[in-house]
This record gives sequence, C-alpha cells and structure tokens, in this order.
Amino acid sequence: MNALITGGAGFVGSNLAAYLLERGGGVTVFDSLARHGAAENLAWLRSLGAVEFIHGDVRNAFDVEQTIKNVLPEVIFHLAGQVAMTTSMQSPRRDFETNVLGSINVLEAVRQYAPKTAVIYASSNKVYGNLDHLDLVEAETRYQPRTLHKGVDEGTAIEFHTPYGCSKGAADQYMLDYARGFGLNTVVFRHSTIYGGRQFATYDQGWVGWFCRQAIESVKEPGRTAFTVSGDGKQVRDLLHVSDAVSAYVSAYEQIASARGEAFNIGGGIENSMSLLELLLFLEKRLGVTLNYTHLPWRQSDQKFFVADNGKAERLMKWVPKTTKEQGIEDTIAWESR
Ligand SMILES: NC(=O)c1ccc[n+]([C@@H]2O[C@H](COP(=O)([O-])OP(=O)(O)OC[C@H]3O[C@@H](n4cnc5c(N)ncnc54)[C@H](O)[C@@H]3O)[C@@H](O)[C@H]2O)c1
Repeated sequence: MNALITGGAGFVGSNLAAYLLERGGGVTVFDSLARHGAAENLAWLRSLGAVEFIHGDVRNAFDVEQTIKNVLPEVIFHLAGQVAMTTSMQSPRRDFETNVLGSINVLEAVRQYAPKTAVIYASSNKVYGNLDHLDLVEAETRYQPRTLHKGVDEGTAIEFHTPYGCSKGAADQYMLDYARGFGLNTVVFRHSTIYGGRQFATYDQGWVGWFCRQAIESVKEPGRTAFTVSGDGKQVRDLLHVSDAVSAYVSAYEQIASARGEAFNIGGGIENSMSLLELLLFLEKRLGVTLNYTHLPWRQSDQKFFVADNGKAERLMKWVPKTTKEQGIEDTIAWESR
C-alpha cells in the first residue's frame, strides 16, 4: 500500500504509520509538527523504517497539491487537524482554516490529480451536538440511557455545536458530498475517545491519558495540588484503543467498495464504555492511590453520553474493536509512566 497520512506524526497517525511500515507499506507522512510530541513521534517512526516525511501545512493548498501530485498515493488517511473543542473556542479562525480549508485542500487535490485514491477522514462525535434528546438515567457513577442498548448510530440527526463541532462537521459533510458529487472514494469516521501509546495527552484533549498521568503523578507526590474534572464526571464515552482505530482505517481501505461515501461511528462500543468518575475509581484501585480533584463547570456542549454503535462498521467493513478497556488502560499507564 502506498499511503499518505496527513497528521502522520500525531497520535493516531504515527500508530497507523508504524503499522503500515512494519508490514512493508510505503508511507508518506505530511505534518506541520504543530502538536507537542509530533517531532518525537516522527523520530520514532524514522527509527522503524523508511518513512517519507513532508513538512507541510494542510492550510496551504500548494503544499497539499504538490504532495498528492508527486506521491500519487493509493490511500490518504486525512488525520491532520485542530483537535480540541477548548482551543477552537480560543481561535475559531485557526480551527476553521485547519479543519475545513485543510480538508477542502485535500479533496480538491485528489479530485484533480488522484481521483481514484481512497480518502479516509477522522471526524468526530461532536457532529451530533449535545444529544440532549437522549433519555438518560443518572446512576451513581454514570449517565445511562434507558433504551439505547447498543449506543448511538449514524441515523442520529447531525447538529454542529462549538467551532470544533462546526469545522469537523463541515469537513465530514464535504467528504460525503465529494463521493456523491464527484465520485471520489471518501469515507468518514466519527470518533469520540481514542487512547493509548504515543498520545501526548493534554488538559484539552486525550482525557484517558491525561487522567492516567494525573494518577501516576499522585502516586509519586501524595497530596499534590488537585487536578480538575469538568462537570460532574458522570459523562460516558466508549474507549477506542489506538490499535483498533488503526485496524478500522486499514479495513476502510480494504473494504472501500462498500465503505465509500459512508460515515461510520467508530468507537470501543458499549462494553468498553466508561465515565470519567469510573476511570478515576479504576485508577485509584489499580495504583493504590487516593486522587485529589475538584470539579469545574461543564465544558461547552459536553455530551452526557456518547457510545458508538459499531454495527454499520461491522456490516460494511467487517471491523470490530478487540482491545478491552482494562487492557487499553494498562497500555496507557505504561505509556504515561515513560
Ligand atoms: N484522539 C481522539 O480521541 C480523537 C477523537 C475524535 C477525532 N479525532 C480526530 O482524529 C485525528 C487525529 O487525532 P490525533 O489524536 O492523532 O491528534 P494529534 O494532534 O495527535 O495529531 C494531529 C497531527 O496533525 C498535525 N497538524 C496539526 N495542524 C496541522 C496543519 N495545519 N497541517 C499539517 N499538520 C497539522 C499535528 O502536528 C499532529 O501531528 C484528528 O483529526 C482528530 O480531530 C481524534
């Protein structure tokens, strides 16, 4: 496979690049190295094999066009992006330019120079808005839906909230429309929480890694200053380990005939769901520590419950997640203890 990965020095991108390199694939990473840790991920990839690296910015149409024209990849995994809701509130224009303009630049270059190339795009659960219409019960440690036993499916109405939701959602819709209107081989993945090694988790993005790090620091320094949890901590997400995200991206390419033009909710599924409080309780037990945290007001447009119903991905891409949340958290603890 001759693959181009935009954002290939990021968390998901570097794991995907490593997987392809280890199997003898040709991999070109296109990345601005804007994210903290991206340069470190790139150095790691270079230690694994002959990765091509292009230092470029998806906001720059010329950078993108030249890359696609020269590389002529069979598949583009479009992962470069402005990745956090909080930072989109601080700079909506940068968020728009990176996520919407950056995606149009990819689509336009593909349309002109590589119209058969598959394009798999990383969208977000934020395209479904607050999901306030879900009928939820407040249990001791989590919000629980009364009827939605498999999670949220793709038939759910889209509703863009926050600049990040708008920019990911706009790019998500452009991807689908370029399949309809121009016959491109585009696929959209709507993810919520992806976690695991090579993520440089921050307060703004990567809550599983971030809380694992807080817990590890609390073991080293008991009684340290409290960290914060936004909202009551009962909000639920399904945890998608990065190895399963990688297998989903590869499956989309392998099953492109049935996946093209479709959007898929891709997550760890109902068995791998967890609330923030449940992760903190798990970490207290696992690491034998009492965590000191305080609550902040809810984050803007924070869904109380999002779990991906992976049924469509299983049907059309033959993909299911395999890593349990317990295995994945162990892996994340190991990475955050580095
Ligand atoms: N990690 C998650 O939990 C999650 C959840 C939902 C959606 N996503 C989406 O998946 C994709 C990958 O996420 P990630 O966690 O690997 O993020 P990441 O921040 O680790 O990786 C993104 C990469 O894009 C690069 N980048 C940023 N702006 C760029 C630009 N203008 N031009 C070129 N490169 C640029 C960064 O340097 C970084 O290496 C993103 O589009 C993100 O929105 C991730």
